[in-house]
Amino acid sequence: MDPKVIEGLKSIVGPNYVISDPEGVKPYLLDETSKNICPEPFLDVVVVKPKNTEEVSKVMKFAYNNEIPVVPRGGGTGLAGGVVPIKPSIILSLERIKEKIEVDKGNLTMTCDAGVTLGEILEHLEKNIEDLWFPLHPGDEGATIGGLAACNAGGARAVKYGVMRNYVAGMTVVLPTGEVLRLGGKMVKNVTGYNLMHLLIGSEGTLGIITEVTFRLRPKPWGTYTLVVPYEDPNKAIETVPPILRSGVIPLAIEYIEKEGIEAGEKATGEKWPVKEGQAFLMIVLEGMSEEELLSMSEKVAEICQGHGATDIFLADTRRQQERILKIRSLIYEGLKDETVEILDVGVPIASIAEFVNESRKIGEKYGMKIVQYGHAGDGNVHQHPLKTGFKEEEWREFYPDLKKEIFALARRLGGTLTAEHGIGLIKREDLLSYLSEEEIRLMKGIKSLFDPKNLLNPGKVVVL
Ligand code: LAC
Ligand code: ZN
Repeated sequence: MDPKVIEGLKSIVGPNYVISDPEGVKPYLLDETSKNICPEPFLDVVVVKPKNTEEVSKVMKFAYNNEIPVVPRGGGTGLAGGVVPIKPSIILSLERIKEKIEVDKGNLTMTCDAGVTLGEILEHLEKNIEDLWFPLHPGDEGATIGGLAACNAGGARAVKYGVMRNYVAGMTVVLPTGEVLRLGGKMVKNVTGYNLMHLLIGSEGTLGIITEVTFRLRPKPWGTYTLVVPYEDPNKAIETVPPILRSGVIPLAIEYIEKEGIEAGEKATGEKWPVKEGQAFLMIVLEGMSEEELLSMSEKVAEICQGHGATDIFLADTRRQQERILKIRSLIYEGLKDETVEILDVGVPIASIAEFVNESRKIGEKYGMKIVQYGHAGDGNVHQHPLKTGFKEEEWREFYPDLKKEIFALARRLGGTLTAEHGIGLIKREDLLSYLSEEEIRLMKGIKSLFDPKNLLNPGKVVVL
């Protein structure tokens, strides 16, 4: 990197917050995307860590005037290579922008600097706020609120409460030119022109850098219960999902997990899943305003599951038990990461989720490849992990693109989408081209050029100009 660029950045944020040595920049080059699928990062980068919106704005102006690409980076927990540099770039890490963490009880909102992590938000609420909570669990707790908004993260608790888009109320954004915008606010309704804030949500750091987010909180429930429901027949497990959704009980989460997924989660956590038997499981999280309400909801859901062939249902009512179960569930990807080619993220309408999972299994069998499936069945978003175990690299690389094409074709036939929560980033740019119409791509490119006339902000991600 040009020493003048390094000096210019140092004069904005101070010498301690610019990293340019090869060892120092290494942790900033990748996210959690499987290395099998992610292109090699570019090494000619400099990392800069501004401390507030004003410094972000100055860095952006500097980059704009000198025509240097900028890759914004939150927690680095993404699964689409969205923060991986693909040309000489400034990596703008938001890790130091984390002073503000404020709850507005009257408006049921919280406002945080972009670098505050999901874990820190949950902890702050738990320790300081008795009656409000953030009901979503949109991913890894190391993810930052700016990243969660920029990627419209989903996660396991979307069944009842939706995704980040349903929660973000306002934000501060720095545009590629360095201008600062305040979008949205704390109001509930707003139809004042095109909704630029919603354009920024899910834009994966390609239109602007989010430096502060205001999002909604909800009244805290009395508690949650987690049901672990084992099935000998995986088809029966997944077929139980639509009847639960129609029952009148709205769970926080309905997760479908195959046995191999549980084993991977156990390996990654060192914890034990509470149920021994079962080829596949539903993990259903319920929230209630009283113990009676939770018990009656649990009974209703258990009855439906038993009617669909579930065997012994385990009810976790203590916090510790539930945390252990959630931990195993959350670390399945970690446990499978080394063996999987990649994690897929198709979403289909919920009525088709059983067909999607069952047909996908058959596609795997056709290629002789085991596909471990688990994920957010209640949202029609079951992740798939094609395992490379037993294949030589040149073998799986030969047939895997066809297998993936068949899965995407299946998703399309069922009225689904290529990615429900992980995003396009770097790894699904080609797939996006085959999925969207030319008109949609034209409009997306037009929006990108309008926000970023020099194509400097996270270039080459989502849409390629
Ligand atoms: C999950 C992440 C990988 O569902 O999306 O575990
Ligand atoms: Zn997921």
